[in-house]
Amino acid sequence: TLSQQYDNIIVETPVDGVGQVTLNRPKALNALSTPLFKELNDALQKLDEDPSIRAILIAGSERAFAAGADIKEMKDLTFSQAYSKNFIQLWSTTITNLNTPTIAAVSGYALGGGCELAMMADILYCTANATFGQPEVKLGVIPGAGGSQRLTRAIGKSKSMEIILTGKTFSGEEAEKWGLAARAFPNFEELMKGATDTASVIAGYPMLAMKAAKEVVNQSQELSLSEGIKYERRVFHALFGSKDQKVGMEAFANKVKDVKWTH
Ligand code: CAA
Repeated sequence: TLSQQYDNIIVETPVDGVGQVTLNRPKALNALSTPLFKELNDALQKLDEDPSIRAILIAGSERAFAAGADIKEMKDLTFSQAYSKNFIQLWSTTITNLNTPTIAAVSGYALGGGCELAMMADILYCTANATFGQPEVKLGVIPGAGGSQRLTRAIGKSKSMEIILTGKTFSGEEAEKWGLAARAFPNFEELMKGATDTASVIAGYPMLAMKAAKEVVNQSQELSLSEGIKYERRVFHALFGSKDQKVGMEAFANKVKDVKWTH
């Protein structure tokens, strides 16, 4: 199986249509090392290209989603090395360019790069007592994988400033209250069940509509309102060229309950 190719992650299909990648470096609290990220990117790319996979779940353990970039790996990095290899750019290019909807399921620590990874997913779910934070200032650096931008877009400037400038953590309950997380669950089991259920709902809908919906919502983070609305309308128009638009609307008109999507 795909999983056997990897040392730092586990890949499985918990339910039909759903691919799950679980970060698995328990001794380092899933610290995001270069080997781990290369494996994660490789697995995500393969799942994205697999036509039987229509939603992707990214999870960690109960204790840690990920405790950040691997500090031991990067501590001796020089400016010249960081700049010339564009350190950390590799992290976000694959995951933020997937066509398949992604859900991050966060339990335990999601610190620094771990919080940033979770924020790269389309939907963020967590446990109520998960620990989020951008503690990079305590190490003499700043967030480097999108934290200052994605956190600010999600929860606003003042709260984001407070979190990034103090390095203080916040809970999953707060993440949900502030709109960073779509939902906070009472415990790890409920989180994984909730995330799998949502992934399964997504996987059950027409795939082109799912990919298009994901694409236009993500464009809202990049474009002005009028550009975004125009973009949305064009993609909406395009879906009238899909089989599932005919299937779905015919089924409604004929009062058919059990719609057979073509995917
Ligand atoms: N990098 C490398 N190793 C890490 C790590 C990290 N980010 N986080 C934890 N570990 C390792 C620890 O070194 C320890 O290893 P050893 O057993 O070999 O000593 C093991 O994981 C367990 O960790 P602790 O003993 O520290 O566990 P704890 O329960 O006492 O504390 C913790 C947990 C509060 C998460 C603590 O480990 C911690 O503060 N980790 C670092 C968090 C952090 O600063 N993250 C940001 C990194 S910078 C970044 O991510 C940059 C960016 O923007 C991309």
